[in-house]
Amino acid sequence: MAETEIKRVLVAGATGYLGKYAVKAFKERGYWVRVLTRSERRLRKPGPFKAPAITEADADEVFVGELTKPETLDGVMDGIDLVFSSVGISRQRDGLTFEQVDYQCNATLIELAKAAGVKRFTYVSMQGAENIMQLVITQVHERVVDLLKNSGMEYRIVRPCGYFSDMGALYDMAKRGRVFLVGKGLNKMSPIHGRDLARACVEISEGDELEAEVGGPETMTQLEAAYLAFDVVGKKPKITVVPMWLARALVKVIGVLSTQFGDLADFIVTAGEIDGVGPVRGTMTLRSYFEELHAADQ
Ligand SMILES: NC(=O)c1ccc[n+]([C@@H]2O[C@H](COP(=O)([O-])OP(=O)(O)OC[C@H]3O[C@@H](n4cnc5c(N)ncnc54)[C@H](OP(=O)(O)O)[C@@H]3O)[C@@H](O)[C@H]2O)c1
Repeated sequence: MAETEIKRVLVAGATGYLGKYAVKAFKERGYWVRVLTRSERRLRKPGPFKAPAITEADADEVFVGELTKPETLDGVMDGIDLVFSSVGISRQRDGLTFEQVDYQCNATLIELAKAAGVKRFTYVSMQGAENIMQLVITQVHERVVDLLKNSGMEYRIVRPCGYFSDMGALYDMAKRGRVFLVGKGLNKMSPIHGRDLARACVEISEGDELEAEVGGPETMTQLEAAYLAFDVVGKKPKITVVPMWLARALVKVIGVLSTQFGDLADFIVTAGEIDGVGPVRGTMTLRSYFEELHAADQ
């Protein structure tokens, strides 16, 4: 599709780490941008781990609606050519499940987009999903992918490696003086900055590739990332390894107390076991990101 054919984009998930950068990236690329959000206040504030605030100049229209309440979404697709969705549960704790948010909210978006005659839909799933299909989060992401592929709309699937926002959690631990790693931290990863990923999402949305994995510019282990964080905060590295058998046992206990937190813990522990490396799309290094976080702390 020629880039001139797509002009008006709806960004859903715009208060999130990737979503905020995506709004800016589509705007920079010349799109007319409508943002779907539950909270304009959250949209206008910077998010965790240096996700930017969305200003008046970044979005042409803000549509306040609840994806869990489709009756609040009347007109959300009006005039839209492309939908971009990074809606999903990563950090927020509002008691909903992966099924209710990652699957159902995106299924609602797909249904509304299809009914409104939207031409193309870009959905953010995850890199290496095929290797971790035992996880609930992966299953729901891939059910959305299947739904989209069968929707009749043109589709693009972005499959990112870990985001720098997750590396920010590592930085926070180093700042406090001790990093806890699940397993030995020797699995390889190529995390990516939200700005780099958002630009890749725009390119993928416009390009011919139907599904694309996206990684950051560097491949490293979790352990190397932890040492890097200590180096940037200027503290002696103190690392505690939580053995896999203990982490797995904790996942079981958490799962008994709360299915959703158990599923989330299962994902975090599994991510500590497997490699997550994708094709290089970004340029921002993890050191420069940690330095940015460190400068903000001074
Ligand atoms: N983090 C990673 O390393 C990684 C790697 C690969 C793929 N992914 C996937 O990428 C996607 C985006 O990740 P992210 O880190 O940007 O997530 P995030 O910061 O948590 O943002 C998620 C977005 O989903 C929205 N959302 C959550 N619950 C909702 C609900 N009940 N109704 C409506 N909207 C809701 C949030 O809106 P509110 O602010 O209103 O809650 C937010 O805008 C997720 O699907 C995630 O699984 C993440």
